Amino acid sequence: MSVPIHGNYHGYYLKRPSVNDPRLGLLPDDTFKSKTVLDIGCNEGWVTCEIGQSWGAHKVIGVDIDDTLIRAAWKKRQLVWSLQKPQKHSTGAFEGDEGGNMIKVDHDSDTTTTTTIQDQADYFPVSLQHSFGPLPIPPSQIRGKHVFPHNVSFRTADWTKESIVEDTDGYDVVIAFSISKWIHVNGGDEGLRAFFQRIHSVLKPGGVFILEPQEWDTYKKVRRLNESLKSNILNLKLRPSDFESILGSLGFGPARHLGPTGEGGKCSDNHCKFLTLDHFFLGFCRMVDLYVKLR
Ligand SMILES: C[S@@+](CC[C@H](N)C(=O)[O-])C[C@H]1O[C@@H](n2cnc3c(N)ncnc32)[C@H](O)[C@@H]1O
Repeated sequence: MSVPIHGNYHGYYLKRPSVNDPRLGLLPDDTFKSKTVLDIGCNEGWVTCEIGQSWGAHKVIGVDIDDTLIRAAWKKRQLVWSLQKPQKHSTGAFEGDEGGNMIKVDHDSDTTTTTTIQDQADYFPVSLQHSFGPLPIPPSQIRGKHVFPHNVSFRTADWTKESIVEDTDGYDVVIAFSISKWIHVNGGDEGLRAFFQRIHSVLKPGGVFILEPQEWDTYKKVRRLNESLKSNILNLKLRPSDFESILGSLGFGPARHLGPTGEGGKCSDNHCKFLTLDHFFLGFCRMVDLYVKLR
């Protein structure tokens, strides 16, 4: 297998706890509601699918440099769909509202109750799809274009260099979870600045950028991957602690530090008050920061 010089790990989510991704749980509840979202470096699409299925997004695009991961992401989308609770209910039907929530409409008793689709994810055991294969996805004309799974799609692209078709209309929310280090070590300080600049340019006014930067001490491990990255790292002047001022100079407001997820890992800057087994074994405990595009 080739060296994952872009952080393009296969089986990433076996390591990272992510059925209900704790990073999404840190965000304000309405972050994705009726929004168009870009998830950069989506890997196998777990976070992308969760946003599309459980957070009421209008449309979510996951982009990744690694085509094998994108193919796995499309499969994940079908798996998530296959495990979802069926839409029909004995006492009423589930219908999608504009925000992607499912409204349970009981026509007999004339009552309408709202239940989020989050309650209905992971309804069937995974073994069912292993034995019988995935469920077919009904056409978007029947199910709705902005309801999961039709509101989720994936693209292969090196997003630092190539545009994808959805960039043209812009996004309300852009997510960059655990990718800034990979952009930084491959593209250098200038590559990272250009990446932030591009995010700023594709966000609509008032749009939200959610960043989970890797700490500087984690860059050490990357040096072992190959000689070229090793020499790139020696030339880096910027540090993750500089990102907020770079983003500020581009037109973003101050960072809202939403907190580490507490799912484990070592925070070099003492954010982390959690000492769990994951802390030692998984090494994930990163700050999630939210920036609003002001100008
Ligand atoms: C460490 S993984 C993080 C996955 C996911 N964002 C998460 O945190 O759950 C980093 C991902 O970014 C992708 N990536 C790195 N550089 C990229 C680029 N220039 N364009 C698109 N994707 C990129 C990698 O292929 C990899 O899947």
